[in-house]
Amino acid sequence: MFERLNTPEEAYNYKLGAALTMERTVLQILEANLKEAQDEQVGALFRHHHAETEGHVRNLEEAFALLGWDVDDSPCPAIDGLQAEGKATAKKTDDVLVDSVLLQGAVEVEHHEIGVYENLIINARAMGRDDVAGVLQRNLDDETHTLDEVKTAQKRVAAVAPKEPAHSGVAGKIKNALS
Ligand SMILES: [Fe+2]
Repeated sequence: MFERLNTPEEAYNYKLGAALTMERTVLQILEANLKEAQDEQVGALFRHHHAETEGHVRNLEEAFALLGWDVDDSPCPAIDGLQAEGKATAKKTDDVLVDSVLLQGAVEVEHHEIGVYENLIINARAMGRDDVAGVLQRNLDDETHTLDEVKTAQKRVAAVAPKEPAHSGVAGKIKNALS
């Protein structure tokens, strides 16, 4: 890993490595979401995007190879933060509302991923590497499509969400105190 980033190539290598860390962490997030999801369609959406995300990791490895670099990851504290926030919120959310919370987390993650790929594609083109941009565009297309799907699912889940607290009364107070 570089101490300092002094050339466009070094900066690009570092950011490509951060994208790799991001995608590997997204795999963990989706695996956790799959365990928590209550609605079958929400679960199916996370399962489908997990398979796509495995492809995103491979595409990033291909980008490293095209540039003639060893695959090397870099820190991505942004995705660590999104993972921590999503995990903490899901933990304190009742099962009847958890799909909504998981989908909201997914929108935030997708926006981050879209920003990462937009930057990587702009800078690949700036280095004259349309081949690398083309590989990363595949990931960006998947993320953009997934964001649309997640937003659609969120509207559907919100429409059927209970209007009353799921655990009101004494039993609910006990559950809330224990959680
Ligand atoms: Fe991804």
